[in-house]
Amino acid sequence: MLIDIIAGARPNFMKIAPIIRALEARKAQGGPLTYRLVHTGQHYDARMSGDFFTQLGIPAPDVNLEVGSGTQAEQTGAIMVRYEKLLMEARSALCLVVGDVNSTMACTIAAKKLGVRVAHVEAGIRSGDITMPEEVNRIVTDSLSDWYFTTSKRANEHLLKTGARPDQVHFVGNTMIDTLLHHMEDLQKPDFFDAADLVPGGYFVTTLHRPGNVDRGDGFARLLAAIADATRGAPVIFPVHPRTARTLEAVGAAPASFHLVDPQPYLQFIWLVKHARAVITDSGGITEETTVLGVPCLTLRDSTERPETVEMGTNALIGTDPAALAPALAPLFEGKWKTGAIPPLWDGQTAPRIVAALETLLA
Ligand code: UD1
Repeated sequence: MLIDIIAGARPNFMKIAPIIRALEARKAQGGPLTYRLVHTGQHYDARMSGDFFTQLGIPAPDVNLEVGSGTQAEQTGAIMVRYEKLLMEARSALCLVVGDVNSTMACTIAAKKLGVRVAHVEAGIRSGDITMPEEVNRIVTDSLSDWYFTTSKRANEHLLKTGARPDQVHFVGNTMIDTLLHHMEDLQKPDFFDAADLVPGGYFVTTLHRPGNVDRGDGFARLLAAIADATRGAPVIFPVHPRTARTLEAVGAAPASFHLVDPQPYLQFIWLVKHARAVITDSGGITEETTVLGVPCLTLRDSTERPETVEMGTNALIGTDPAALAPALAPLFEGKWKTGAIPPLWDGQTAPRIVAALETLLA
């Protein structure tokens, strides 16, 4: 029985890698499921896509829809048109989507309209902030999916509240953490690290790419200045997302303590996070990784769809006002950051649980 596995953008690749590994393992034992890997092409360059396939051992996609960049509607529409065509030529029994990017929602809609069932991995999380394109993608995807694989009990509750039946909802844990734990022994120190006189534990990592933080030059410049100030002159390693690079160019220079580097491949990025004094970010996924690694994290957003990283983990949600940074970071310098705990089922075994459930559901 054929499953489509959909991947489009960088945060998807860590989530599909262990699912593919688990499917291959079952196939070797005579399991009933086969898969077709569909890359939508939402992220297309080596630094945002190709490097991740290589490092995470993901096989080359069977199909690449090559949609590339565009506005929200252009990108979503192009994915829907091309994925619909693929399904009409060669139908699958299930469309498996992960996360909350445009590719996730677009393929869900195209599949459902052709009567193809959809399973959503990382279903049910909600930030409550409908101005984020990801929140729209989550709500639409979850309103259409047949089966939900969740990372938390809270996600189950959101789904049940919006009408999902209990038998559709499966609390399985976090596939991103499967990938993290799988690669703990082969993390790689980035080439630039020693040459830049950096030392483990002596630097911060920052990542910023949310439109609200990076699309306006004046606000972005203030944010960078506040990060430099709050980190008290310690080096700040800043892998610059392509979207952010455009604003940075318009702003001119970053503060002197910043080390601007390209988007890092997975093994290098996690190495940097693991050895950082703390991470300052507007990403959601990274807050899950810092929670499991026990690295302090400050999130520059007003809301999070991953509250367990704050309630149980090492993450603090500090809002988008640059003035909040220095006071929020002060406890770190006083050695008083919370140590945190690892959320239930974030144990590295989520993908095998998903594959076992799918075998039963599709039987
Ligand atoms: C997307 C996801 C976001 C995720 C992020 C991780 C949506 C709505 N957003 O945001 O949830 O956290 O990916 O990176 O799906 N670009 C390149 N090379 C690439 C890809 C993009 O240069 O390989 C540039 C393009 O010029 C594009 C811009 O980056 O306009 C933004 O890419 P896009 O896919 O629109 O959204 P992201 O901001 O990356």
